[in-house]
Amino acid sequence: MKELICLLLLGFGLLGCIAKRNHDPDAPKLPITLYYEALCPYCMEFVTTQLNPSMTRMDRLPYTDLTLVPYGNAKVNEAGELTCQHGEDECELNAWHGCILEHNNKTISLKLIACMMRGRKNNLDRCAKRYNIDVSAVKECKKARSVDEILKKYGEATAQVAFHGVPAIAVDNAYDETDQESLSDNFDQTFCAKYKAKFNKSLENCEPSARSNTIRTKH
Ligand SMILES: *[C@@H]1O[C@H](CO)[C@@H](O)[C@H](O)[C@H]1NC(C)=O
Ligand SMILES: *[C@@H]1O[C@H](CO)[C@@H](O)[C@H](O)[C@H]1NC(C)=O
Repeated sequence: MKELICLLLLGFGLLGCIAKRNHDPDAPKLPITLYYEALCPYCMEFVTTQLNPSMTRMDRLPYTDLTLVPYGNAKVNEAGELTCQHGEDECELNAWHGCILEHNNKTISLKLIACMMRGRKNNLDRCAKRYNIDVSAVKECKKARSVDEILKKYGEATAQVAFHGVPAIAVDNAYDETDQESLSDNFDQTFCAKYKAKFNKSLENCEPSARSNTIRTKH
């Protein structure tokens, strides 16, 4: 019944449809895990132009069990020191993301992290202010603990997965190299297809209108 209302309203404009959104709290969630690092250009592009629009604007977050793993190609060297691909600034930013994830739910974490990944500097304060989010616990976390310690569990999670480059996206707790291009270039549609394949359920606004929009914006 809900889908019918949505389709009818589409003829009169999308707003009516979006206003009608009500989530089934029991809707199954597809696990999505993103392995990334704060300063890799493709990660920044993926989070800001693919993942975040899909989760927020297309409203997929209630249907997703989203896990962010801010570690990427960081390594612990022979001396036991953590080194990040894009230098010390990146280790710092990854640790900020780690503290954000520890102290906020998925909605707020994604908002802050996507906002921060629009730039290369630490924009936590600006982003927190923009969305009116209290980040005092995040700051306490970052101040009280070392970067290495904050990132340790993300290093362990990353070591479980043999990916080639970041962003690396696992669906339903499995990383598949052959899926990476469609996930990173056309995340929302790929998510819809994977969701349908697993749960036999079509999410709203999947095909075909969203696809033609995506193609148009690329030109
Ligand atoms: C996430 O946290 C915010 C702020 O505490 C709250 O308003 C929101 O309802 C929470 N969302 C979920 C899905 O739990
Ligand atoms: C998928 O769902 C449709 C209706 O939504 C149903 O008719 C069909 O039998 C289902 N297929 C499977 C394999 O469960």
